Formats: sequence, structure tokens, C-alpha cells
Amino acid sequence: MRLDCPPSVCESGEKYPHRIRYRRLVSNSRSYAEFFVPESESASAARARASELGCTPIGAGAGTALTFLAAAVAAKSAVEIGTGAGVSGLALLAGMTTDGILTSIDVEAENQRAAKQAFAEAGIAAGRTRLINGRALEVLPRLTDAAYDLVFVDAAKGEYGQYITEAVRLLRPGGILVIDNALWHDKVADPTQRDTDTVAIREAGRTVRDDESLVSVMIPLGDGLLAAVKKNP
Ligand SMILES: C[S@@+](CC[C@H](N)C(=O)[O-])C[C@H]1O[C@@H](n2cnc3c(N)ncnc32)[C@H](O)[C@@H]1O
Repeated sequence: MRLDCPPSVCESGEKYPHRIRYRRLVSNSRSYAEFFVPESESASAARARASELGCTPIGAGAGTALTFLAAAVAAKSAVEIGTGAGVSGLALLAGMTTDGILTSIDVEAENQRAAKQAFAEAGIAAGRTRLINGRALEVLPRLTDAAYDLVFVDAAKGEYGQYITEAVRLLRPGGILVIDNALWHDKVADPTQRDTDTVAIREAGRTVRDDESLVSVMIPLGDGLLAAVKKNP
């Protein structure tokens, strides 16, 4: 994409017209990309319930990317860390194979009840979801090594580093790790932001990027989605 400006704009007398144009381009394009694929009615309903529960769901664009990634690996088995009210679960299930099973962990039973309602309203067979109520770091060690096509991380930000260790163990070669809030309200990219959650997410991002067993990409949709494929050994 060419971001510098044509001579007619540069000659306008403004000192940095290309920067203004770039900012406009980024914000318009980011917004266009975010809502490029319309969200389903069931996802919108789940989003409204999430808001009532005070539990922030993934952005619309991040949901689209999750569906895409689950479809790209023809996911039959996926783990979600942080069920919430089911917005991300619906996105994952939409991309997974029709017999695919989503294992989703959350410490809040009320959130999982809302997710269950969202899955039922979307017509998803009960056998396709396995909702486990508990703390992620207590549940994850019970799941089988190399048995999952995709792991999605969206629970306690301070625990992201430990979730990544567990996720890499759970993924089969060729499987995908996806981490939400990887840009965390624009704070991860700003080195002056040193609060606990920002530091934990920034460090988790570096861990994924520098892991030679993974191939990673930062997708600037929603609040930032970091995705990584586990290489074949
Ligand atoms: C941001 S919300 C998840 C939103 C959901 N992924 C979606 O997009 O619809 C985070 C969820 O993680 C759960 N959570 C927070 N800490 C947790 C922990 N230590 N173990 C398991 N779940 C946790 C919260 O109860 C909350 O439902």
C-alpha cells in the first residue's frame, strides 16, 4: 500500500499532509476492516448479554478472524480460556468442523450460563461444547497434550504467560494459538505504560514472537489478536 501522498497534495502548503492522510487512512481502514464481515444476530445478542454481565467480549473483527483461523485449520477440537458470555465461542464454532468440539473454561458460572444460552439460540448441538467451570491454571493441566487444533486465550491478563506454556503443550503441530487483547487498549505499544496487565501482555507477546517453535503474526483487529502456528518439528 502506498502511503506517501501524490504531488498535488504535497504542494497544498500543509507541512505534513501525508501524515494527516495516513492517519485518516488508518482509522477509516481499521474501522472498515473491523466491520467488514457482518456479525450474526446470535453474536449480537450474546454481546448484549456480555455487557449486562460486565464481561468484555472480543471485537467484531477479532471474531471474524477467529472464525477464519478455525476454518483454516479445519478445527475439530479447540480450547477457549475465558468463555465469557459466548461471543468468541460462537465465532470459533462457526469456523470449526460441524462435528468439532469446543472446550471452554471460565471461573464464573454465571458467564457460562449466558454462553450456554447463546450456543442454544444459535442452534449449536449441546454435544459440541464442553464448558468447564474453574480457574484456568487448575483446569488446563488436566487437558491432553497435542490434542487440540486451536487454543484461544482471553481470561486473566496477568496469567497470559502461563496460558501460553499450557497452550503450546496442548496444540498439535500445525495447530494455532490465538491471544486476545494483544494490543491492550493501545498500551502494549507504548513503553511508558508499565501497569501489571500491560507488562504481562507485552511479555507474553514477546514470548510468542521469540519462540522458535511458533510462527506468529499480530493482527490489529479489535483489541489486537496475536496468532501463532505451532511448527512441525
Ligand atoms: C474478557 S472475558 C472473555 C470473553 C469471551 N472470550 C468472549 O469474547 O466472549 C474474560 C473471562 O475470563 C474469565 N476469567 C477471568 N479470570 C479467570 C481465570 N483465572 N480462570 C478462568 N476464567 C477466568 C472471566 O470470568 C471472564 O468471563
